[in-house]
Amino acid sequence: MEKKLSGQTAIITGASSGIGAGVAKSLAAAGANVVINYPVAGAKAGAEAVLEEVIGAGGNGVAYCCDVSSEAEVKKMFADTVSFFGTVDILVNNAGLQRDAAFETMTLEQWNFVLGVNLTGQFLCSREAIREFLRRGVEPGRSRAAGKIIQMSSVHEVIPWAGHANYAASKGGVMLLMKSLAQEFASRKIRINSICPGAIQTPINRQAWETPEALQELLTLIPYQRIGNVEDIGNVAVWLASDESDYVNGASIFVDGGMTLYPGFTTNG
Ligand code: BGC
Repeated sequence: MEKKLSGQTAIITGASSGIGAGVAKSLAAAGANVVINYPVAGAKAGAEAVLEEVIGAGGNGVAYCCDVSSEAEVKKMFADTVSFFGTVDILVNNAGLQRDAAFETMTLEQWNFVLGVNLTGQFLCSREAIREFLRRGVEPGRSRAAGKIIQMSSVHEVIPWAGHANYAASKGGVMLLMKSLAQEFASRKIRINSICPGAIQTPINRQAWETPEALQELLTLIPYQRIGNVEDIGNVAVWLASDESDYVNGASIFVDGGMTLYPGFTTNG
């Protein structure tokens, strides 16, 4: 059976764990070759485990180490991907992290680290992807678009987050980076959209779900009354990467069980 993303190649940054790992598996199941990016040697085992699962399920891919905040490393990852697979069709700018601190104690290092990975990383990877999409252009039979970029944003591109100013600032930046790029490249058939996950059960927010009390507290913020899982995000990523969403460009798609619906107003206000 022809799969939705057959013959296409996707780079997924930060794919050795969490949402990135889930998205890599979903894209591979839809037929894409996946470049499972991981940031440092310590994450290699995680990336290789994802690759093993992808291959075990009949997919194709490689694990690739690259710090997305390094211009030289990002250029090399794209050049190597083009030499392995011929081109890049899909970029999922997923790499993201938190270094939480009360603002008055936040160090410049905590600020720069989060902005470097979450925002500069998306700039560097998007620029290389767009250069490749422009070089190749639309090829009949491949996809209606010259390329697709999916930015992993967050509900915190619109929900302010005390104690996480660096993270919220990075995601607010991701929103207008995405919209500005979508506007700039639409006429050249490049589609750029964001997925804005709410609380998805992964290591980044373990403290929010690992005890029954924490989970109960978290559910007061989620009208749909369940925590999300990585497949919830993977399904949307496959759709955004495929021609089924060909007319969707410059959109922030919230996948959050209603977290952005001001749940505090459900019974009051
Ligand atoms: C954060 C998680 C948090 C979720 C909802 C995400 O962007 O990384 O730690 O649970 O937003 O607040």
